[in-house]
Amino acid sequence: THRPIRFIRRGQPVALHGVAPDRTLLEVLREDLGCTGTKEGCGEGDCGACTVVLGEERGGKLHYSAVNSCIRLAHSVDGMALWTVEDLAEDPLIQPVGDAPAAVRQAITLHPAQEAMVQCHGSQCGFCTPGFVMSLFGMYQRHIAPTLPTACGSHPPSGEGPPDSLAPRGGPSALDHACHGEPITRELAQEELSGNLCRCTGYRPILDAAQQMAS
Ligand code: FES
Ligand code: FES
Repeated sequence: THRPIRFIRRGQPVALHGVAPDRTLLEVLREDLGCTGTKEGCGEGDCGACTVVLGEERGGKLHYSAVNSCIRLAHSVDGMALWTVEDLAEDPLIQPVGDAPAAVRQAITLHPAQEAMVQCHGSQCGFCTPGFVMSLFGMYQRHIAPTLPTACGSHPPSGEGPPDSLAPRGGPSALDHACHGEPITRELAQEELSGNLCRCTGYRPILDAAQQMAS
């Protein structure tokens, strides 16, 4: 028998049993967990369609990285926090679902990364979009969330604390969207999104979305 894979997802511990050591994270997400929002394009680490975000505790802080799940072994995420595109609207850590009434939850479903993609028309056929959204989310966590006022609960946590200490949060303060993060330069956006390919839309609206997230 194989050791279970343990990680944090949507603020809760998850344990996956019986996963063979040679299976990729993408295979497990799509085939075992039904998370088909994470796409397979090239299957070789070149296109970014399979991008997910991992949170790893180092020095008492969470460090976020966007990774290609097609070339990442599933067991390698043991002990980490994991976000797929399905999680952005449901993770209590990054969406104020806790005490917010249903009408408010409906109104705040999109994460700033998703909202910026919509506003900038960053998606056409949509196949690359989950990967871009996750790369944007990783960028948001590294460059924008740490600069936000702590009272603003509508954005992701600043990265303090190990994954297993993360707890759901919400409440009235979570409804304040009027906060501003670090400016995202065009160069930074290009660098952060360099692992994602799009065959339809072109990169200008997606780079626009990256910059708009911080405004
Ligand atoms: Fe993973 Fe292309 S499917 S990088
Ligand atoms: Fe079609 Fe990017 S929107 S591949």
